[in-house]
Amino acid sequence: METLTTPTDSVFSRLPDPSSGVFTAPLQRPGHVGEDWVEPRQHVYGADENAVWDDLFARQMEVLPGRAASTFLAGLGKLDLGRGGVPEFARLSADLGALTGWSVVPVPMLIPDHVFFWHLANRRFPAGNFIRGRASFDYIEEPDVFHDVFGHVPMLADPIFADYMQAYGRAGWKAMRHNRLKALGALYWYTVEFGLVEEGGALRAYGAGILSGPGEAVFALEAASPNRIRLNVDRVMRTDYVIDDLQPTYFVIESFADLYHQTVERDFDRLYRGLGPGFTYANTAVIDIDDVLHRGTLEYHLRGGRRSGAKPV
Ligand code: PHE
Ligand code: FE
Repeated sequence: METLTTPTDSVFSRLPDPSSGVFTAPLQRPGHVGEDWVEPRQHVYGADENAVWDDLFARQMEVLPGRAASTFLAGLGKLDLGRGGVPEFARLSADLGALTGWSVVPVPMLIPDHVFFWHLANRRFPAGNFIRGRASFDYIEEPDVFHDVFGHVPMLADPIFADYMQAYGRAGWKAMRHNRLKALGALYWYTVEFGLVEEGGALRAYGAGILSGPGEAVFALEAASPNRIRLNVDRVMRTDYVIDDLQPTYFVIESFADLYHQTVERDFDRLYRGLGPGFTYANTAVIDIDDVLHRGTLEYHLRGGRRSGAKPV
């Protein structure tokens, strides 16, 4: 039955047209970009902007050895992202292309879901065409080139993760047919952005949201507050998430092959049909089916989180 509706490669090469019932964020496309949202050329970064990259890079390298997944650190090295200044996408794409066939394209801002899916499905990673200023050095609301390139691109140098990301993009077509973009978004959030992986008995971070900011790697791996729970796709896709504070719960994979197995090698049709209209679980919840590695005290969040200036303990 499903084979009749499973899209083929020619489908993924064309920009999808979300049907009118599908909820997508109302983003206003700037006049200078076309339907693909790709910038005509990469921004030319000035000396001050390149210095922001260098300082962010240096600060992360104080924190990440021993905390970032070895796959991430290997990608960072292979792509030589610390050679100085914001990477030039043409060169980065050539290097990355030789490793896994991915490229990196500049986009002005957050792009609509269906455009994002389409780029990923064609092994193009859309990355911000600007860098944060000094005033928002520690924390920005909109993903900039440091988050997108430093945080995401090293993982794309890994063949399994590269395939996972392409499959995630392709998965968007089915999620749109089922009007389940929020559920698929939760999976992205708890893996690509905030995922942890087991490595030789220890936990390491592979999520870009953890790796591109200063405080979250320590919090995610070492603090008593957050729950650390083994990834269960059905559970995660029913779990709410916040985008403006540290996470109360992190989900842990055994390996990238395990992530691939749980997602790419599974048909989500039945899962989508069984989902309720909203999220079932709060992002702080521990439920009876959870395989809990660390039950969090949730102290940071109980004290009010970022807004109240709580310490990330
Ligand atoms: N197997 C999923 C489906 O049938 C697709 C998927 C791949 C989802 C990778 C997430 C990540 O829709
Ligand atoms: Fe991101």
